[in-house]
Amino acid sequence: MTASPNKSSNSQRNVLPEAIHPALLEWFDRNGRHDLPWQHPRSAYRVWIAEIMLQQTQVATVVDYFSAFMTRFPNVNALAAADLDEVMQAWSGLGYYARARNLHAAARQVVEHHSGKLPRDFEALLALPGIGRSTAGAIVAQVWGDWAPILDGNAKRVLARLAAVEAKPGTAAFDKRLWQLARTYTPGQRVTDYTQAIMDLGATVCSRRRPKCDRCPLNADCLAYARGWQTALPVPRRKRRKPVRNARMMLIVDGFDCILLEKRPPNGVWGGLWSLPELPHNTNAAAYCRERLGLDIVTSQTGDSFRHAFTHFELDIEVTLLQAKRATRIIESKDQSWFDETDLPGVPAPIQRIVATRQRVLDL
Ligand code: ADE
Repeated sequence: MTASPNKSSNSQRNVLPEAIHPALLEWFDRNGRHDLPWQHPRSAYRVWIAEIMLQQTQVATVVDYFSAFMTRFPNVNALAAADLDEVMQAWSGLGYYARARNLHAAARQVVEHHSGKLPRDFEALLALPGIGRSTAGAIVAQVWGDWAPILDGNAKRVLARLAAVEAKPGTAAFDKRLWQLARTYTPGQRVTDYTQAIMDLGATVCSRRRPKCDRCPLNADCLAYARGWQTALPVPRRKRRKPVRNARMMLIVDGFDCILLEKRPPNGVWGGLWSLPELPHNTNAAAYCRERLGLDIVTSQTGDSFRHAFTHFELDIEVTLLQAKRATRIIESKDQSWFDETDLPGVPAPIQRIVATRQRVLDL
């Protein structure tokens, strides 16, 4: 990294944290997100659900899921009383399903230990499954306006640039420095707006690849900008090669345009979700269907594999499309059932895509 010559006179300044607040909040008043569904009404339950969804998913995607989730589970009692299965269904397509499992467990704890009210106490929130420091901070700041630092991915990027933090993301030194900055910059007033503002600025202006520094309310105070380092910071993480696994899946359609789905075991990938039946390696699909499922297969076609990325590995999925004889029906069980193609239960996003494009598989 080299200092930008015509701006280097700025580069050693120490920005007083308060100096950024008027410009940031004025920017937020004009350009921030004020109409997110969980902001109206801004109840503890709604903000909590939204913050969990937002942990690994972008705002635009969360908005749709959030409304459907609220209709299905309008309050913490409804969520706690539901079967985990129902919650998984409502979450299907959002990914990172541990979030749904933790949310359900946390709802039960809130009902059992906190009289059905999400605690306002930061430490008590932190003790609930799925709530880390940044999420707990976002909840208390967004719901009650209490002072609490937050540090989601967007806020991290803004602060790392503002203070030109050169430590590597993922290291203890980086986290320590960033939390210190988050505490220092969080103001005593308008905490709710500040919290939303720093996340919104990171998402819309201080973006990872092409930050729009000319439109940034903090550009006069930003050390990375002063040094011309804004695209170099935070230092990109070295991408680790993820292991690749293989799966063979069967899209079995009967004569009624119904699809056979299997519920996956509770642990592991897509635990507890409905998905396509898997075919063991070195097994003939039609023979397997006949012997294991009692199905008469009329046609069988295998398409190309495609790759789906999970957090810790990638999965190459090969899909075989099988047409079962019109009259054949296996005995349905709790974990194996036919579903009308137009009325599927919640399934993981890649499975949704496979079903939606089955005509293309047929055309291959
Ligand atoms: N990411 C995490 N929380 C958020 C929020 N409340 N608004 C926008 N992005 C977010």
